[in-house]
Amino acid sequence: MKIVLVGYMGSGKSTIGKLVAKQLKINFLDLDEYIEKAEGKTIDQLFSDNGELYFRKKEFFYLNEILSSESDILLSTGGGTPCYGNNMDAITTATKHNVYLNVSLKELVKRLSGEKAHRPLIAGIKDEELQEFIGKHLFERSYFYNKAARTISCDGKSVEDVAQEIMQGLV
Ligand code: S3P
Repeated sequence: MKIVLVGYMGSGKSTIGKLVAKQLKINFLDLDEYIEKAEGKTIDQLFSDNGELYFRKKEFFYLNEILSSESDILLSTGGGTPCYGNNMDAITTATKHNVYLNVSLKELVKRLSGEKAHRPLIAGIKDEELQEFIGKHLFERSYFYNKAARTISCDGKSVEDVAQEIMQGLV
């Protein structure tokens, strides 16, 4: 079984994904970590040394490599993964267990304002401009996130609650 989590930066994909994978006793993969290992560079370095387009091409390549593997995995994607090329279609074709972790703009701004440093897309955005930036970004990206088979509203829920909800939907 393959489970793929999509959602904006800070939506909890990795934390929740690890929990679900542990409970289901399947492997957990974080696409960013997978790319970092394969390329021998951090995501920050890939962005600064090679540019975003280079990163997106690598992201596309490794996503497809993982999706075409035989193994049972829970894959946490990067916030932008579903929004480039045909990535979201590749995800929904590879598995019906694809889930969008939906977090409100207000909550995302709260979560991300103290966590910008290692996120190249928002590292340079001033705190007072973060809400407008994320709001616009989220609006553009929602088109892709909303193609997911399931959406879980995460505001006000613990990671355990969301993990439980993901597992309840695995029929
Ligand atoms: C990105 C999200 C990041 C990472 C890269 C680009 C994005 O992943 O892939 O910095 O475009 O939203 P997380 O969502 O895991 O932070």
